[in-house]
Amino acid sequence: MHIDTLPALQSTYAPFPFPIVRGLGDQVFDDQGCAYWDFYGGHCVCATGHCHPAVASAIAAQAQELIFYSTAARVPLRDQAAQELVDFAQGPASVFFCNSGAEANENALKIALKVTGRKRFLAFQGGWHGRTLLALSVTDDPKIRQGYEDFLVPTTFLAFGDLAALETVDFSNFAGVILEPVQSMAGVKTAGTDWFQALQAKCRATGALLIFDEIQTGFGRLGQPFASHIYGVQPDITTCAKGIASGLPMGAVLLSTDVASQVKPGDLGSTFGGAPLACAALRATLAVIKGEGLMENATKAEEALKTGLAGTVVQEVRGSGLLLGLDAGAQAPALKGFLQTKRILVGGSGDAAVLRLMPPLNISEVGLQALIDAVHQFSKGHP
Ligand SMILES: Cc1ncc(COP(=O)(O)O)c(C=O)c1O
Repeated sequence: MHIDTLPALQSTYAPFPFPIVRGLGDQVFDDQGCAYWDFYGGHCVCATGHCHPAVASAIAAQAQELIFYSTAARVPLRDQAAQELVDFAQGPASVFFCNSGAEANENALKIALKVTGRKRFLAFQGGWHGRTLLALSVTDDPKIRQGYEDFLVPTTFLAFGDLAALETVDFSNFAGVILEPVQSMAGVKTAGTDWFQALQAKCRATGALLIFDEIQTGFGRLGQPFASHIYGVQPDITTCAKGIASGLPMGAVLLSTDVASQVKPGDLGSTFGGAPLACAALRATLAVIKGEGLMENATKAEEALKTGLAGTVVQEVRGSGLLLGLDAGAQAPALKGFLQTKRILVGGSGDAAVLRLMPPLNISEVGLQALIDAVHQFSKGHP
């Protein structure tokens, strides 16, 4: 290709075959005005739906007041946002704000290296944590690791959810143990409560820090504030991003009292982290999630989908709340294409047989029924 013909925007993923120009609630619209049910959620980001009026007006009001000041100054809004997030998370003592998921994990892993003085991590097969070098070190995705192997921190990868595998390694070697409590990209894989409890016990006994990457599972997506609440575990560090500010770039690293007390001023920093605009969006997001019962809606939607998709080409609906994997076997790619013709957007995954649903937490009954009806229609044509 001649250099002049390259588009100005560097390509990343293959985009949908139509542009998206507007969003409202659980739908997005293309440039022809066609509406699509958004079960993809802008990749698990649009927690409160598109352009929720309370979030949009909080952002607009903040933009008239103070768009930005760095952490060189105390901004009361930032303190309020931190307190409200810590209260919502029930357990962590403090939060460090940054701007993305990879940056949140990068900081969490750096903290683990510094606090423990150790030099290795434990992570899990199929786990996905980001593209910066420490986050990539603990990510089991050969495609994106290729070419960077020499720069990655040594990491042991165990089978996710396998109790016996935990006995095969010495945890006292590890600075930190990082996991997605539900492995999203791997095809929405879950593990049992006994496995999470055993993992926590191993970490506590050896001083390895337990890091929950709740970038997809947090903020009510599984029907509870965080997945750690479901499994009865108190991570040393929890990372968040994606839905935290309904689509404004924001990441957060939540620290236990013990870890927070070992982090000194100057250890962490970020120019844009905790920007007033993002903090306003975070506070509005939390208010909507709690005030409009979105965690309850996530649980109700899960039940409706699990019931409604029974008897179709979807052999199994994995996951919980509104992070669901539809296992449609060899028919998954065709089902994804068919749903798109019905104006329903879903995600793929690293497992070609599994489609992912990660819609706004306020997905409507009408939207759910549209998906269920379309999957039944596809199934009738493909016995
Ligand atoms: C579980 C998980 N962790 C980390 C990341 C990285 O987040 P970001 O793309 O905001 O850097 C992602 C992104 O998809 C993710 O799904």
